[in-house]
Amino acid sequence: MKAAVYKKYGPPEVVEVVDLPKPIPGDKEILLKVHASTVNRTDCGFRSAEYFISRFFSGLFRPKLNVLGCEFAGEVESVGKLVNRFKPGDKLFGFNDARFGGHAEYMLLKDTDVLALIPEGMSYSEAVAITEGGHYALCDIYAMNVQAGQHILVNGATGAIGSAAVQLLKHFGVKVTAVCSSTHADKVKQLGADVVIEFQKEDFTKGNVQYDAVFDAVGKSSFGKCKPILKDKGLYVSTELGNNSENVWRAILGKFSGGKRILFPIPFTKQQDIDLLKELVETGKFKPLIDRSYSLEDIVSAYKYVETGQKVGNVVLTID
Ligand SMILES: NC(=O)c1ccc[n+]([C@@H]2O[C@H](COP(=O)([O-])OP(=O)(O)OC[C@H]3O[C@@H](n4cnc5c(N)ncnc54)[C@H](OP(=O)(O)O)[C@@H]3O)[C@@H](O)[C@H]2O)c1
Repeated sequence: MKAAVYKKYGPPEVVEVVDLPKPIPGDKEILLKVHASTVNRTDCGFRSAEYFISRFFSGLFRPKLNVLGCEFAGEVESVGKLVNRFKPGDKLFGFNDARFGGHAEYMLLKDTDVLALIPEGMSYSEAVAITEGGHYALCDIYAMNVQAGQHILVNGATGAIGSAAVQLLKHFGVKVTAVCSSTHADKVKQLGADVVIEFQKEDFTKGNVQYDAVFDAVGKSSFGKCKPILKDKGLYVSTELGNNSENVWRAILGKFSGGKRILFPIPFTKQQDIDLLKELVETGKFKPLIDRSYSLEDIVSAYKYVETGQKVGNVVLTID
């Protein structure tokens, strides 16, 4: 089978498409014929090991797992004799940022993995983008303990996480102010944002409105800059570590303060999250934004594009 393999940390060019043996499922495993995956910032982070901390999970000196791809969608080809949850022919999508493996023609899944049947009528390329942004957005939304009627600002509303966050916050009954570039303002309104701030025209940290929370989905601001626009017990959540990892240590220290504070939740993958995302897709409340597609053979170009920091939503990898 063809697979995109990386054997050392580094730039997109460390990834090569090579032939690997087709995996054979064990008794409790599922063999998935992968039709689509994504190239996302999680894959980029593990490939580049830009943040040294990722090496504690992926291997200190070189990657222990050589095929990335935390999002995948495909058809079950065969299952081990102890698997009852899915059967050959089922069309699945899922997320796995512990074992990855979606950047290949086949991958092995465990019957306990976070997986779901693809919503009726949805293609592999659409379904594959449901999970990564949605998963991180949900993790932060739950950490913020959002309540209907709150007003939350999402910075970077066109990223995979930001575009999911706008739609999910609307589902939870929150008033959303979204920050994006002028080019994508209409797109962000269509996602459901109540107010759109175009960052070229206005610095959102200098406005008069006070928010229950600022969710910086692209990590371009800081707690210090956002403090004036937070209510008394307002929260600041960022998807990035911040200057000198301040979002982590200030989150820990801030636990003991009663006022405005930072949260830096550790994301855990839960079956309930993918079930909720699927339900919201089926009821038309969540639609992952898709920017463009690349073929598996062109994965290096996909990585390079994602690392421009300008993708709008998700970048799909087609594997057919
Ligand atoms: N904590 C984690 O575990 C984790 C996991 C995955 C990702 N991340 C991080 O989360 C962040 C978001 O990732 P993502 O995949 O959702 O999106 P992304 O690809 O990083 O975001 C791209 C989007 O951000 C917009 N953008 C760029 N600069 C902006 C600014 N100053 N203000 C507002 N919008 C801006 C771009 O729009 P324009 O081109 O129109 O400006 C583009 O549409 C990344 O920094 C990534 O490293 C963290």
